[in-house]
Amino acid sequence: CGIVGYIGHRDAYPVIIKGLHRLEYRGYDSAGIVLYDGKDLKLSKTKGKVSDLEAKAESEKTTIGKIGMGHTRWATHGVPNDVNSHPHFSNSGKLVIIHNGIIENYEPLKQELIKRGYTFKSDTDTEVLVNLIEEVKKKENCKLGKAVQVALNQVIGAYAIAVIDVEKPDEIIVARLGSPLAIGIGEDEFFIASDATPFIEYTSNAIYLEDEEMAIVRLHKPLKVRKIKDDSLVDPYIQELQLNLEQIEKGGYDHFMMKEIYEQPSVIKDTYRGRLLANKGIIQMSGVEDNIEKFLNAKRILIVACGTSWHAGLVAEYIIEEFSRIPVEVEYASEFRYRNPIINKDDVVIAISQSGETADTLAAIKLAKENGAFVFGVCNVVGSSISRETHAGAYTHAGPEIGVASTKAFTTQITILTLLALRLAKAKGTMNNSDYQRYLLELELIPEKVQEALLTNDVAKQIAEIYKDATNCLYLGRGYNFPVALEGALKLKEISYIHAEGYPAAEMKHGPIALIDESMPVIVIAPNKGHYDKVVSNIQEIKSRSGKIIAVVTKGDTQVKALADHVIEIPETNEPFTPLLTTIPLQLLSYHIAVLRGCNVDQPRNLAKSVTVE
Ligand code: G6P
Repeated sequence: CGIVGYIGHRDAYPVIIKGLHRLEYRGYDSAGIVLYDGKDLKLSKTKGKVSDLEAKAESEKTTIGKIGMGHTRWATHGVPNDVNSHPHFSNSGKLVIIHNGIIENYEPLKQELIKRGYTFKSDTDTEVLVNLIEEVKKKENCKLGKAVQVALNQVIGAYAIAVIDVEKPDEIIVARLGSPLAIGIGEDEFFIASDATPFIEYTSNAIYLEDEEMAIVRLHKPLKVRKIKDDSLVDPYIQELQLNLEQIEKGGYDHFMMKEIYEQPSVIKDTYRGRLLANKGIIQMSGVEDNIEKFLNAKRILIVACGTSWHAGLVAEYIIEEFSRIPVEVEYASEFRYRNPIINKDDVVIAISQSGETADTLAAIKLAKENGAFVFGVCNVVGSSISRETHAGAYTHAGPEIGVASTKAFTTQITILTLLALRLAKAKGTMNNSDYQRYLLELELIPEKVQEALLTNDVAKQIAEIYKDATNCLYLGRGYNFPVALEGALKLKEISYIHAEGYPAAEMKHGPIALIDESMPVIVIAPNKGHYDKVVSNIQEIKSRSGKIIAVVTKGDTQVKALADHVIEIPETNEPFTPLLTTIPLQLLSYHIAVLRGCNVDQPRNLAKSVTVE
């Protein structure tokens, strides 16, 4: 979910609505806003997107006030409907809350409150929390800040919250555990948000609350940050933001996803800028250099991640093992954290996350640290929770990724992990010098080659026209391109709602082959390096069962061309680098199919970009 709040001299409504639009990547099932109009708290909320909220708030005249807050939701407890939308009032109507996260023990707390006479309108855990705060405030006859603190000490779960009391309409109390919360500090005004994007045009000074911290945000008063557990005061670190407005706007493209696909040549370059000095044969990443012994002594590297980042981890497994001969295991963070995994002190754990906020990945990191492992983060969002929780790391520098379906984050994650693999190969002497030098020079050419791969856009669009009504799709690849098959299938599923599966090409005969008939498009990743002949055999198998073959091949290919229904040509590169190129047409194909099907590409149904709940 996304949270935005404002207190100051401006009209809060436009600030909050614009901010909510920017945070829609965090969820968009329902939205709501509350404003203090000088007398009362006025609330509007609705199922649907922020644009639906705007229509409703304007018709209900919930637009006036200099203090207020809004929310865009990704449902956890309770279906997305008007009642379950945030903000939520307490029973007295005096307190109002917005919340991102999950209160795990809400059921016993709710029962206890019901015994004391509280009633509940919604099915949310949030409404329980606001009434708990009200109950504490009444019982202890204390200020709102204290009541929030006492209530939170009874809560198990994760949250970022903001609370307003109608009787003290010059302050907002915020708190965080597990879900991100930033406070923008302007002149005589404050902004509150799940990340800094809602307020970058107003201020470049921000504080990111740490877990178990709360802040009293009061007009004309300095900001006070306290520890929730023991009430001790914290000296907040004010960070200078480096985002700019242009980075978070569409820049002439119809969708963020397309903009981000096209940014890949430049962001891959940004990723290795200053780190790859190909002519000198040098790779340097401070997070790696400072901890090189840890990597060199590692008996094993464990990679934890979710979604697309997990796919980048799979590509990295192939590359790191091949280049540096360190055993690598890749796990879904959500499985790892709950299965009592074996973690040794000499393991290096690499956590990959675009947002740096994914709850399961964060929990996996904590577990790894508890067991003494060294944890290295690969994140995109600077200052994110994961980047702070890890011992060291490397940012991908892809810039803000707004489209829910991850594109440039994936290729830049692979870029970083490729640099790491090469750096380790050099340090361990597992690669001869001429190969090492060849790889470095080739890596420098990748942005140009990605640019060339983007020329497949027209072909991808034509193919999309033909297959847009498919109900199932199979993606096949081998070796380095097996994870690309998984990622291609995920992209299609996410944004077009067509069922798709990625498989290692050879595994096809152990199951998916039964699905193949003349209505089944099969996307085969078949670059000319590595297992090419084997993939050609797999293509024959599909063809003899009348499947429709869309093949991603290296420019100049003849053999696959003769067999496939459609080919998409990408430039030639070394086998380990092919994922950086083969991924591109698959992103474009999913994009066009989704657009042709009339789907909301940037905000596909039920998904969220940043999943801060487990
Ligand atoms: C969500 C997003 C995916 C992303 C995954 C992991 O499911 O929709 O695009 O790959 O979370 O997110 P992370 O930010 O940790 O990479």
